[in-house]
Amino acid sequence: MMRIGSLINGVEVLGGGRQAHDIRSPYNGEVVGVVEYGSREDVERAVETAHRVFHETMKTMPAHQRSEILRRSADRLEAQLEDFATVLVGEAGKPIRDAQAEVGRAVQLLRFTSEEAKANNGELIKVDSAAGGENRIGFAKRYPIGVVAAITPFNFPLNLVLHKVATAFAAGCTVVLKPAEKTPLSAMKLAKLLEEAGFPKGALNVVNGTGVDLVEPLVTHPLVKKVTFTGSGPVGWKIKDMAGPRKVTLELGSNSPNIVLNDANLELAVASIVRGGFAFSGQACISVQRVYVQRDVYAQVLELLVPKVAALRAGDPALETTDIGPMISEQAASRAEEWIREAADQGATILTGGERNGNIISPTVLADTKHDMKVVCQEVFAPLITVIPFDSEAEAVAAANDSDYGLQAGLFTTDINRAFRVADMLETGGVWINDVSTFRTDHIPYGGVKMSGVGKEGVKYAIEDMTETKFIGIRLY
Ligand code: SIN
Repeated sequence: MMRIGSLINGVEVLGGGRQAHDIRSPYNGEVVGVVEYGSREDVERAVETAHRVFHETMKTMPAHQRSEILRRSADRLEAQLEDFATVLVGEAGKPIRDAQAEVGRAVQLLRFTSEEAKANNGELIKVDSAAGGENRIGFAKRYPIGVVAAITPFNFPLNLVLHKVATAFAAGCTVVLKPAEKTPLSAMKLAKLLEEAGFPKGALNVVNGTGVDLVEPLVTHPLVKKVTFTGSGPVGWKIKDMAGPRKVTLELGSNSPNIVLNDANLELAVASIVRGGFAFSGQACISVQRVYVQRDVYAQVLELLVPKVAALRAGDPALETTDIGPMISEQAASRAEEWIREAADQGATILTGGERNGNIISPTVLADTKHDMKVVCQEVFAPLITVIPFDSEAEAVAAANDSDYGLQAGLFTTDINRAFRVADMLETGGVWINDVSTFRTDHIPYGGVKMSGVGKEGVKYAIEDMTETKFIGIRLY
């Protein structure tokens, strides 16, 4: 069993009166590891170390070397895919096939960052586009920003850490990471792998723990230049307030809309919705939640959809046959159960699911919901979708946009004109045509509008955001 502390300058900090907490499987409560929480002083030392290593090593490390270490990290992670997947099953309760897929994505992400580390780092400016700018040339050159504070969630405990850490390394930055308190084991295992692959000690420092006592000194530290957070809205916006003048990226939640128009390939739409609404028990910011179906195909969609959802197998995440594992905690499962009951009391129909067994919520399809029910207007983050009929495209777009959130959307149609017309009108950071909101590859620009966040991730975009642009001009004479 792993016992971990914090990692500062390559040394794991344990003991010294630090509080120990069990990491328990969300499925059966078994202890799968122990974490010792770091202190404010540990945060201070972690940031100072990251600052020193940035100036001594990382900012001047040649691009080819950063790229090569990222490539080696990818190879090492690929070789340990099963080990990492097992850790994700234990600490997050992620079904093994989803856990393997997450590690596979993380390997690919490292390969993307390895390539991107060698790409252009700025542009040449035509200074003489402006009258008076004759005989001048200019460069918009990108420089690594410095120490990045990264705060990550439980739902993709490996891949979302790499979205922040690997991109920071590709840019030439250093990092202090605070992983989710429920899933610190994979983050620590990854931190060690990155060091073994060749990143200098102290380029990534990990401080484990929870709460504002740890987050506040991290995001307000004068040596921290950028804060990148993925997690819940209320915490994210508070962090942005705390971060003051620092650059901030927030990847927050959504109640993702997915629209099925009457000319859609319904088999494709339904299969995608089943996968995208229920993978990892709906605990993804882009999980399918609101499904808007044109009225003339509504009955047909339900007829295809409900038996497929009912056939999903819930149970032990360690088994290859399991589709639906536990939610991350009893509190999260009880909250989902409560929202389902409340919707049913207010007139929603439960077409399948709606039950709680321990931390497992059976995959749930609701109909007859109203816009102001929590299961529609808030982020459910549970294995639950609600299917809502509409008559016109305009009505579907208005309903989809009637949300505080706007991260990704999905849209099904066989008519390219309708596809672009609707995609153009959706108020989200991304739209998939003929796929669901849940689909993501790690190099696409990813980030929401409205309360879903600020800034973009996705390899190239995150790297850009880990840099500052400096203009350097030359006058020729
Ligand atoms: C998220 O839940 O924010 C990330 C989803 C993903 O990377 O697939």
